Amino acid sequence: MANGFRTIEPKILYFGTPVALISSQNEDGSTNLAPISSFWALGWTAMLGLLDETKTADNLAQRPDCVVNIPSPDLWQQVEKLAPLTGKNPVPEIKARQFRFEPNKFDASGLSPMASEVVKPERAKGVPCAPGSASVRLHMLSGEKLNQLGGGVAAEVEVLRVHVASEFILGDNHIDPQKWSPLIYNFRHYFRLADKELGKTFRAER
Ligand SMILES: Cc1cc2nc3c(=O)[nH]c(=O)nc-3n(C[C@H](O)[C@H](O)[C@H](O)COP(=O)(O)O)c2cc1C
Repeated sequence: MANGFRTIEPKILYFGTPVALISSQNEDGSTNLAPISSFWALGWTAMLGLLDETKTADNLAQRPDCVVNIPSPDLWQQVEKLAPLTGKNPVPEIKARQFRFEPNKFDASGLSPMASEVVKPERAKGVPCAPGSASVRLHMLSGEKLNQLGGGVAAEVEVLRVHVASEFILGDNHIDPQKWSPLIYNFRHYFRLADKELGKTFRAER
């Protein structure tokens, strides 16, 4: 121990990021739905971190449309129902011990599908924010620890349309931060944000 710190080797570095359910299109036109938490946005460009051994990565390599459904904290149990499932058949060996194939992720999760306006995969009804997006490029990621998980890609997606439940909209064009709250994945546990706002940045318009 030095200065109150220790060096550790956690298996994963999930520091607490929002969860997204990625809708992507299977070869038969149906929609696959998969939870991820490795994602961020800059402007209307977003990066999705996807393990190679996912149906989502396969689908985006073949058919670029997707929806980044961002669930609210009250949907964590539906998200967790998707956690042990994959749209990949057969299940990749690296996942075989813990995962099973499921072709109908909507039925399995209890979420209902609804048509998206500009992209082909369906979005999840009841999820309050769902940007319809198109993948423009897949960037290969590297690293020894990532390779132990089977490798991964960052899918660069361009957001085309942002669907937001009316109750979260402030004025014409803002999402109300007092009402909006993402589901947070914090080291494999689900959390919500604390209700108390700490302050706002100098560029906040509302
Ligand atoms: C809350 C949560 C967050 C996850 N985050 C990611 C992630 O960021 N990237 C990823 O590839 N898999 C992530 N996973 C694992 C995938 O959901 C899992 O591999 C799933 O089988 C993928 O489904 P698919 O094969 O049908 O695409 C996460 C799982 C959960 C439950």
